[in-house]
Amino acid sequence: MAGNAWLRVHFPRLWFARRAIRRFMPGEDTEAALTAAASLESFGIGSVFTHLGENVTRIDEAADVAEHYLTLMDDLSRRELRSEISVKLTQLGLDLDPERAYGYLERLAEKASASGRTVWIDMEGSAYTERTIAFYERLRPDHPNTGLCLQAYLRRTSSDIRRLLPLGPAIRLVKGAYAEPAAIAFRSRHEVDESYLALTVLMLDAIRDGRRLRVALGTHDVGLVERAAAHASAHGSTKSVFEVHMLYGIRPDEQRRLAGAGYVIRTLIAYGTHWYPWYMRRLAERPANVWFVLRQLLP
Ligand code: FDA
Repeated sequence: MAGNAWLRVHFPRLWFARRAIRRFMPGEDTEAALTAAASLESFGIGSVFTHLGENVTRIDEAADVAEHYLTLMDDLSRRELRSEISVKLTQLGLDLDPERAYGYLERLAEKASASGRTVWIDMEGSAYTERTIAFYERLRPDHPNTGLCLQAYLRRTSSDIRRLLPLGPAIRLVKGAYAEPAAIAFRSRHEVDESYLALTVLMLDAIRDGRRLRVALGTHDVGLVERAAAHASAHGSTKSVFEVHMLYGIRPDEQRRLAGAGYVIRTLIAYGTHWYPWYMRRLAERPANVWFVLRQLLP
């Protein structure tokens, strides 16, 4: 459904869908996202901003996206928020003009560096994996304030981590949100979880062995986070050796509890009007969310 063009236009117009999306988004405009970030900071939780939209069809849309993030960083500085940003390369025009998309990414990284922020690159479907990693390899040497998302469900990810280690990278590890074929991806929940843990251990061991590496566990799977912390502590590290990133509206009480327990937590705040494909992936992760949407129809 995330790729269905008709639904993409019509679903967001339905009142009950608009009501349901409020659970995962503080609002469609920047102001709502800024207010949410300020409130999270009062609980000791940092944030990452992502302006929703992907696969733009005209290069001037990509220019607008870049402009939006540049203005956003001024707003963040004005409000003294330590928030970071996370972008999709297809939103910056990767499909239309890769060199221009790279130029936009560099501008964002330069601006972010001036206020001590990190720019994260989201990972999209597997058609983009290699190009996204290649962009990061090109960007990282001159822009150490950049990070890349990698997906534990892809069979290739352990070799991608090893490939990136010499760059001293920042890696946000997620399970993966796209429908990928079994030839390239683990499909069962158990296999994905085992892969996630093995990759986490690979990264934590690299840090223990003296590698420079920033690790963010992008997951709501608190059991996995606790297993990662147990592994770190068995090797003499504290839990702040890694960060935990979660999505706005998902397990908010766990986010606060973990922050209180000494974990470094950031919440990814998504906002903007182009929320349809992103929202469909959130529904697919947890079918109970579909009932939540339908329940909005009830008085
Ligand atoms: P899992 O799906 O096993 O969920 C663990 C528990 O968390 C569930 O039992 C449930 O309680 C809760 N939960 C999880 N998802 C929920 C939902 N939608 N609604 C309600 N409860 C839910 N993917 C990608 O392919 N590219 C990317 O760039 C990113 N970026 C990204 C950034 C950040 C900060 C996060 C947290 C996630 C992503 N993702 C992503 C999405 C990721 O790949 C994955 O689909 C989701 O995080 C869900 O997987 P979990 O790791 O939470 O585990």
